[in-house]
Order: sequence, then C-alpha cells, then structure tokens
Amino acid sequence: MNGKGITMKEFKDKVAVITGAASGIGQGLAERCAREGMKVVLGDIEETALFQAQKELQASGAKVLAVRTDVSKASDVEALAQKTLDTFGAAHLLFNNAGIAAGSTIWESTLADWEWIIGVNLWGVIHGLRTFVPIMLAQDTEGHIVNTASVAGLTTGHSPYSVTKHAVVALSEQLYHSLAHLNAKVKASVLCPGFVKTRIMDSERNRPVELQNETARPLTPEEEAIVQYVRQGVQAGMSPQQAADHVFQAIREERFYIFTHPEYNAAVQMRMEDILQGRNPSNPFQS
Ligand code: NAI
Repeated sequence: MNGKGITMKEFKDKVAVITGAASGIGQGLAERCAREGMKVVLGDIEETALFQAQKELQASGAKVLAVRTDVSKASDVEALAQKTLDTFGAAHLLFNNAGIAAGSTIWESTLADWEWIIGVNLWGVIHGLRTFVPIMLAQDTEGHIVNTASVAGLTTGHSPYSVTKHAVVALSEQLYHSLAHLNAKVKASVLCPGFVKTRIMDSERNRPVELQNETARPLTPEEEAIVQYVRQGVQAGMSPQQAADHVFQAIREERFYIFTHPEYNAAVQMRMEDILQGRNPSNPFQS
C-alpha cells in the first residue's frame, strides 16, 4: 500500500496553516484556501500586513486566525501550532512558505546575512516540520505539507539563498520518504517556482535589528547585473494566484515536485548532467 486513495482532495472545513501569509505566494495560497472553504491560519512576521491580510480574507467570509510568527524561532512556531489547535482543533494543510532573499557571494555575505537567511529559509521549515508533523500524524486524518523551495534549489546557484533552497529540497525529499515509509495519511510536496510577482526583492523590510549589516558594501557590476536580472524577473513574474493553482493541482494529484516554470527545466537538467558526466558546474546565468 502506498497510501494512494487517501490523498487530500476534500478541503472544505479543513484547516490550513500558512507561514509568510501576509504577502506574495503565501497570500495567494491563503486566498485559495479560503476559496476552497478552509479555515485559514496566517503566520507572518510583518504585523501590519498580517492583520490587513486577515481582514481582507475575513471580508470574503472565511474563518481566519492571524498569529504574528517569526519562523526562525522555534517558540514562535510552537505558539502558532498551539493557537491553531486552540482555535480550530486541527491542522490539515501546512505551507512552510516564509522566506527572504539576502547576501552576495559565499565569502562576502556577512555572518548576519547567513544567520538571517538560514534562520528564516531553513530553520523556519525545520521548526514547521518538527512542530506540526507529530500533530498531523497523531490526528490520523488526510493531510499535506508543502515546503516552498525554489528553482534555485535545483540549479547551480550564486548566493546563500540557493544554499538554503537546496537544503529545503533535500529535507523535503527526506520528509516524503519518511512519511511514505509510515504509510502516513500525510503527504509532502516541495514547491520550486521560477519568478513570481511578489515582494521578495524587498525582503530587507523584515531583517531583524540584531542582524543588520553595519556597512553596506557597493555591489560589483556582476552582482548588480544578477540583482537587476532577478528584480526584472520577479516584476514580470507569474501571479501568486497562478502559483497557488499549481500547488492545489499537485496536492490533488499527490505530486511531490511542484514546478511552475518548465522553461527552467533545461537549467536543472544541465546541473544534473554536469554531475553525471563529471563536468564542472555550468553557469545558468550565461545562456
Ligand atoms: P514576499 O516577500 O512577498 O513574501 C514573503 C512573506 O514572508 C512576507 O509576508 C514576509 O513578511 C514573510 N516573512 C519574512 N520573514 C519572516 C519570518 N522570519 N517569519 C515569518 N514570516 C516571515 O515573497 P514571496 O516571493 O512570496 O516568498 C515566499 C516564498 O517563495 C519564499 O520562501 C521565497 O523564497 C519563495 N520563492 C519566491 C520566488 C519569487 O520569484 N517570488 C521564486 C521562488 C521561490
């Protein structure tokens, strides 16, 4: 038995928990969950945007709980779970989605950059899994977990961001196997989007005071070119609502890898073939 047939297909009246839910992809997922008739729990560090997002969703008739959460802190994620259970009694869909972009080259990114990005992008997902998976397994009902990585988690990267996203892909694959081994009713997917039109390039708005950089080094022309490439890509990116459509389709089909932008398949394939053929890493930014 592989657990098929107990895939999560019915969403109405179930409970969805979304981190990074006050903006971008998380907000798109929250809106979609509400449209599916789910009870929605929004976790985000940005308080004003969080309560605004809650108000908007409630106006659509949804039952919505908003909890100010810093996903890099285990205690905050535990409190998010407790408030979810106290309010709605269960958690069926979990989106470990909160994420930020920061840093430059591996050696020039500051300690603060590394601590911040690993804290949010990787520890955030770890805290989400350590806290919610036992709850979801104990419920013994259908459930699904989606971790947001990126196509940057599958290609040769250029920053601490890619490092964290490769790690999220790796831990999601392990999660998938561990749940399958248990024949669990809880399934897992990893979301690997290309550019989505969000506020990711304004991530600095959420950098904690204690992790601010003392002096900002001017970017090299090569770094500036990459930032511009990414900024323009995000600006012209897919809508968060479309990304949410891909996610729900994958949950219904019990599909693990969620790709939203097939045009990046060539870059993924290039990395895989570099590895298998013993070639040195190709640069996906030079095509
Ligand atoms: P966004 O900036 O619009 O949304 C991210 C949300 O996470 C914001 O509401 C922010 O307040 C929240 N957040 C930041 N730090 C937090 C923390 N410590 N605790 C809790 N919440 C926190 O950006 P976007 O693009 O919607 O990002 C969502 C996820 O999608 C991230 O994991 C990002 O890496 C990923 N992604 C985005 C892509 C894009 O092109 N926009 C492409 C691939 C992946």
